Amino acid sequence: MTRKCLVIGGNGFIGKNIVLELLLKGYSVVVFDIVTNNIREAVFEHENIHYIEGDINNTLYLTEQIHDIDFVIWLIHTTVPATSMYDVEFDLLSNIPPLIRFVQHLVQHSSVKKIIYLSSGGTVYGNSSKNIPINETFDKNPISSYGLTKLVAEEYLTYLTKQSEIETYILRPSNVYGRFQNLKKPQGLIGHVFKSIILDEPITVYGDGTIVRDYIHVSDLSKAVIACLEFKERINDSLVLNIGSGQPTTINDIIHNAEIITGKKVKIITKEVRDFDCKFNVLSIEKALSEIKWTPIVDVNSGMLDEWEWIQNNLK
Ligand SMILES: NC(=O)c1ccc[n+]([C@@H]2O[C@H](COP(=O)([O-])OP(=O)(O)OC[C@H]3O[C@@H](n4cnc5c(N)ncnc54)[C@H](O)[C@@H]3O)[C@@H](O)[C@H]2O)c1
Repeated sequence: MTRKCLVIGGNGFIGKNIVLELLLKGYSVVVFDIVTNNIREAVFEHENIHYIEGDINNTLYLTEQIHDIDFVIWLIHTTVPATSMYDVEFDLLSNIPPLIRFVQHLVQHSSVKKIIYLSSGGTVYGNSSKNIPINETFDKNPISSYGLTKLVAEEYLTYLTKQSEIETYILRPSNVYGRFQNLKKPQGLIGHVFKSIILDEPITVYGDGTIVRDYIHVSDLSKAVIACLEFKERINDSLVLNIGSGQPTTINDIIHNAEIITGKKVKIITKEVRDFDCKFNVLSIEKALSEIKWTPIVDVNSGMLDEWEWIQNNLK
């Protein structure tokens, strides 16, 4: 029987990639998003996709339209780390109550088997005092409202689904990049660097470019999501997994790669490191490797080249 997956926020950067991966694997997909037009252009009117356009704040509007859903992937988040600090109250209230209301509905009125929630490995841990890969048991000390809200969401999901039949997978991706990255929105360094090259504008680098990050290609993240959906063993408590490349990469490395790939020089404006920028963030992915048997396969050089080629073909 076809497995049916609801992707909430499925029209975003990561959502489009996950939807394509789900279709490849033979899932029937329901995409819920406040806008659905550009995913229709991206993946066409596939016979296995049903679109529902609406606002997640209107829980009833969504729940009345979904039937026989096996899996839910929650991708909506209304802020990114930098914007979350402009209005901390908005960050909390626009993200947590809709999630709680929807999950309560699932627990009480549905036969959904699994929920996959995308948290954030780049922000929930905060600044690690040791420059070593961070595993899931490390202290959680978020330094942005975004990171704090992600942790609150993780806790509510775990709490709400604990006594239910629903299995909860909490993925903590590092910095995600790749096809469908929205260059119009502040969505990560790699997108910013490519955008600055296309527009021939300078990019702002906070600090001396030695801040270390972990970049995960969106196709590897999408495969991790599928691995969770297809994981056969029953999990009793939430399964929390870091999803990264495990490879330390500096801002300077990314800029250097972009210059080689595009053949253009990146113009840089240097500013002081911001309070919410972690200095070192590389994830240990041992748990995902052993639990769901998932391994990232795209290195940052080939992943950036693939994104640049996609930009050339789609955004010009
Ligand atoms: N991009 C990254 O590097 C990264 C890293 C770690 C975690 N994440 C998390 O992964 C998830 C997906 O990220 P993304 O980069 O694809 O984000 P995105 O902003 O591209 O996608 C989010 C989608 O949610 C939709 N949406 C927003 N508000 C809505 C509402 N009120 N009702 C219905 N739909 C609404 C948007 O239209 C958008 O299509 C987010 O939870 C994000 O926090 C992203």
